[in-house]
Parts: sequence; structure tokens; C-alpha cells
Amino acid sequence: MMPMNRQVILAEKPEGVPTPGHFELREAPRPVTPASGVLCRTRYLSLDPYMRSQIAGRHPSGTVTPGGVMGGETVSEIIDSDARELPPGRLVRCMGGWQEYSVHAAGEAHLLDEDIDSPSHALSILGMTGLTAYAGMIWQAGVEAGDRVLIPAVTGAVGSAAAQFCALRGAEVIGIAGSEEKCRFARESLGVADCIDRRAEDIDARLGQLCPDGVDVYFDLVGGKLLHVACTHLANYGCIVLCGLMAEYNRAERDPGPAPGLLIAKRAIVSGLVVYDFETRREEYIRECLPLLRAGKIHQHEDVSHGLERAPEAFCRLMRGENFGKVLVALP
Ligand SMILES: NC(=O)c1ccc[n+]([C@@H]2O[C@H](COP(=O)([O-])OP(=O)(O)OC[C@H]3O[C@@H](n4cnc5c(N)ncnc54)[C@H](OP(=O)(O)O)[C@@H]3O)[C@@H](O)[C@H]2O)c1
Repeated sequence: MMPMNRQVILAEKPEGVPTPGHFELREAPRPVTPASGVLCRTRYLSLDPYMRSQIAGRHPSGTVTPGGVMGGETVSEIIDSDARELPPGRLVRCMGGWQEYSVHAAGEAHLLDEDIDSPSHALSILGMTGLTAYAGMIWQAGVEAGDRVLIPAVTGAVGSAAAQFCALRGAEVIGIAGSEEKCRFARESLGVADCIDRRAEDIDARLGQLCPDGVDVYFDLVGGKLLHVACTHLANYGCIVLCGLMAEYNRAERDPGPAPGLLIAKRAIVSGLVVYDFETRREEYIRECLPLLRAGKIHQHEDVSHGLERAPEAFCRLMRGENFGKVLVALP
């Protein structure tokens, strides 16, 4: 019998918040090992908000159209190889997508650093989301001891890493999260001085109480109205790192953003962050982060679903803001 490959395709383009019905599980013939390349079996699949932008046709990495297999970064095991440097049995980081098997040219499959103890970390704290946090807060904003840093989605993949890096530098971190349970976790486990429940509290009023002298650094992971509120609480010469638009990805229209006059009055330094620009520094980041992870000074809460068929619901939970930590799917 022909060996098969289970895949998740986009069945229909969602207009608003995606539901599992917008995706479909199907079987296709398993691909064969390409010349000078590898055949891989997916072990962990990373689910990320940028996939919603790929579906909407608004992401620089490409567009997914109905009928197409959903893309995504994976930790995969090489099961057959025509590339001497990539032996069967080794784990690689590659763009395997939402499927059981994928094939890659040798240059597109990156052997996992053997110092990484937990393979899933290559997609979370030691992977793209950890790198985004470190690049944004340490390299781009230059957070230092004594800075007051405001981080929304603070228990999420990027936010939780950013909070811990800033707290370790001696910054005072104020988090924002979507439930009391998440806020408690942020206070107890992420080194956050205080955390605002965005669904239950008046963020504007709480920021006035918690940061009477203003916020020195705002890591904008959500856009929307919160960006405007954060700008009004920015300290003079404060810094904003624009990184994500969680509040806007499920909508067709975009928020206009804060008024330039407000940013002028604050003498704000505003910069955009695209993690792809820091790809050449990934190894440097891993060397910085690994000892902290090993020493238990930072950690990663992972929101793991089991089985490829669970990927659509896990992605929809992420887009509803119901995830708790880095969203991953583990495949048997
Ligand atoms: N620029 C880049 O290169 C780059 C790279 C990686 C990620 N990002 C961006 O960074 C942000 C965080 O990514 P992540 O992977 O770490 O995701 P995440 O934080 O693990 O998950 C997203 C979180 O956003 C929060 N959120 C706030 N407002 C929301 C809303 N209106 N709807 C839904 N969720 C909302 C939710 O947490 P609460 O309910 O607790 O608020 C949700 O759990 C995203 O915007 C992503 O696109 C950018």
C-alpha cells in the first residue's frame, strides 16, 4: 500500500475569528526523499499568530489559500536522507508545516543544537519567539536596571520570555494578561512586579496607579486601543517596540494608531521589530539563553496539544487569546 501523509489544509478563508471548520484533515501520498535533501517526520509543530496573517494574505512570508497545506515551523526527525551532513535519526528545525511528513533541501533543515535538552524548546524559548523577545527588549530597546517596562500578552510565548529577560536585568515589569489566573502566574513565576487583568480591570486607571512616573519601554504585542492607552502613559523619551497586532489580526480593517502629536509630546522613540532581521544572531541568542534556562533562571510554559488533528482547535484558541504559553502540537 502507498505510504500516506496526513495534512491539515485551509478549507475556507475565515472573515473574522477562525474556527476549526475553516480547516480540514486530509491524506496525501507521502513525499519521497529529494536528491541531496531529507525526508522528515514532524515531532513538534509551532502554531503562531502570523499564520492568521498568511491566511489573510498580509504576511511577507507568503499566503495560504483554500486547498493549501498550512505552513509552520517544526522540529522534525530525519527518517531518510540523501545529504551526508543530515543523518537519519537526528532532529532538525524546518518549515515542515501542518503535516506528518515533509521534505527539505539540505540548506532548509537545521540540525538541532545538541545542547538543547528539550526539543520543543527549539520552537519556544530557544526558538523564534524567544529570539523575538530578546531582540525586542535587550537588543532593540536596550532595557536596563531601573527601567519600567510594560508587556501585554505577558504569559504568552513572546511576552513571558520578554518579561523574564527584563526582570533579570533589574527592570520593573508590569504585565497585562487576559485572566486572573494568568496574572497570578505572571506575578509568581515571571518576575513581574504587577499584572493587570485586561478583561476585568480598567487598564488606563491601573497604569496611572502603578506607573505614576510613566512607562519607559512598551513592548507592543497587540496593537489596537491598548497601544493608544500605553502611549498616554509613556514617560518622556520612552521607547515603544512595535512587534505584533493580536487585537487586529482577526479583523479586515486596521486601527489608525496613536496621534503623532502624542508621540511628539512624549519625545517617543518608536521602532518596528521583524524577527527575521535577527536570524543571523540566533546562535548568539541561544548561547545567552541556554545557561539561564539550565540554571532555572528562566523557564517556558508550553501549551501543548497532542495529535495533528488537534492543530486547528489549538490555533483557534490562540487566535481567541485563550492559550497559556507557547502553543505547540506534539505528534506521535
Ligand atoms: N514582529 C515579529 O517578528 C514577531 C515575531 C513573533 C511574534 N510576533 C507577534 O508577537 C505577538 C505575540 O505572539 P506570541 O506567539 O507570543 O503569541 P501569544 O502571546 O502566545 O498569544 C497571543 C496572546 O495575545 C493576547 N491578546 C491580547 N489581545 C488579544 C486579542 N484582542 N485577541 C486575542 N489575543 C489577544 C492573549 O493573551 P491575554 O489574553 O493574556 O492578553 C493571547 O494569549 C503577536 O502579535 C505576534 O504576531 C511578532
